[in-house]
Amino acid sequence: MTKVLVTGGQGFLGSHIVTQLLEEGKEVRVLARPGKESTNNSAKGINIFYGDIRDSEAVETAVNGVDVVIHVVSNFRKGGSDNQEAYSVNVQGTENILNAAAKYDVRHLIHCSTIGVHGTVLEIPANESTPFNPTDLYQETKLIAEQKVWKFYQDHNLPITVIRPISLFGPDDRRMLKLFRMINKGNFFIVGSGEVLFHPTYIDDAVKGFLTCIENPKAYGEAFIVGGEQYISLNQLCQIIADELKVKPPSLRLPMAPVLALATICEKACEPFGIEPPLHRRRVSFFQNNRAFSIAKAKQVLDFEPQYSIQDCIRETLNGYVARGWI
Ligand SMILES: NC(=O)c1ccc[n+]([C@@H]2O[C@H](COP(=O)([O-])OP(=O)(O)OC[C@H]3O[C@@H](n4cnc5c(N)ncnc54)[C@H](OP(=O)(O)O)[C@@H]3O)[C@@H](O)[C@H]2O)c1
Repeated sequence: MTKVLVTGGQGFLGSHIVTQLLEEGKEVRVLARPGKESTNNSAKGINIFYGDIRDSEAVETAVNGVDVVIHVVSNFRKGGSDNQEAYSVNVQGTENILNAAAKYDVRHLIHCSTIGVHGTVLEIPANESTPFNPTDLYQETKLIAEQKVWKFYQDHNLPITVIRPISLFGPDDRRMLKLFRMINKGNFFIVGSGEVLFHPTYIDDAVKGFLTCIENPKAYGEAFIVGGEQYISLNQLCQIIADELKVKPPSLRLPMAPVLALATICEKACEPFGIEPPLHRRRVSFFQNNRAFSIAKAKQVLDFEPQYSIQDCIRETLNGYVARGWI
């Protein structure tokens, strides 16, 4: 039976990967920090190794004895600008995984990157060869981590695949909840024109992208953008969410420049106190940066086929929020 370690397996994406691995009959280990329950309650029967990704001994213990590692950990949810933490979790954490995977002869390492490494996309749709152009600390550190992965791939005989997921939606993830709630209450305002492009991906489709490459040697040494089939404008996204909620779509508009200035001030003001800024540049980038990607390579090489249309993705997410009493 294939033994798989999922780092960050208690988080949103990681816990869904774990659930699917268990359904496929894999033996699953998780590396997680203590004190957090899985966001996805169906992820049961797993072997949890508690530890921090920055602790190389804890990482080695978790990696020793598995066939495949899916490295999902990131400080993704932190919007502020703690350089040290972003670097140590995203970059040094990845180095720990690379070293341990080589030391214990892991058969395949699948590294979770992000389409954020492409940053502001000028070429539409962007693909795996689109130049890197990270625009914030999270994206920069994810790119440094990915570059460490490629260097390691060149220098060592370790099969590695990189997956760059596109913006994830799911019924048990609160990241998009505010957007749904504000549209529901009629107090969501669009910053800028709203014509910027957005590319939603339902969580189950993203998970499928990871699982299709586990036993697939064609994936070795390759990066794949994994996501939904379509992208739309932010105005259209808000319209679909409003339709599903059966409310009016947002009509309020704010100009970009002052909101961006305010976000920068908020970040700087919160930094000395170590608190999460209520508004930060990464949040504003939602209204600013085109996110429109081609998934053609994953389809061609991995036979990856997303199953959820944008309407399905929004509906499933909303149903989950309602079922949990969040909306
Ligand atoms: N969600 C998206 O839209 C999206 C899009 C593109 C790429 N991604 C990538 O997908 C991956 C997962 O994202 P997600 O949305 O599932 O985020 P998430 O729910 O925050 O999951 C991240 C996991 O990493 C863990 N973690 C953070 N710091 C750690 C540390 N120092 N040691 C051990 N574990 C640590 C977190 O545990 P704690 O609960 O203890 O913090 C959490 O379980 C990330 O690599 C992200 O870059 C996500």
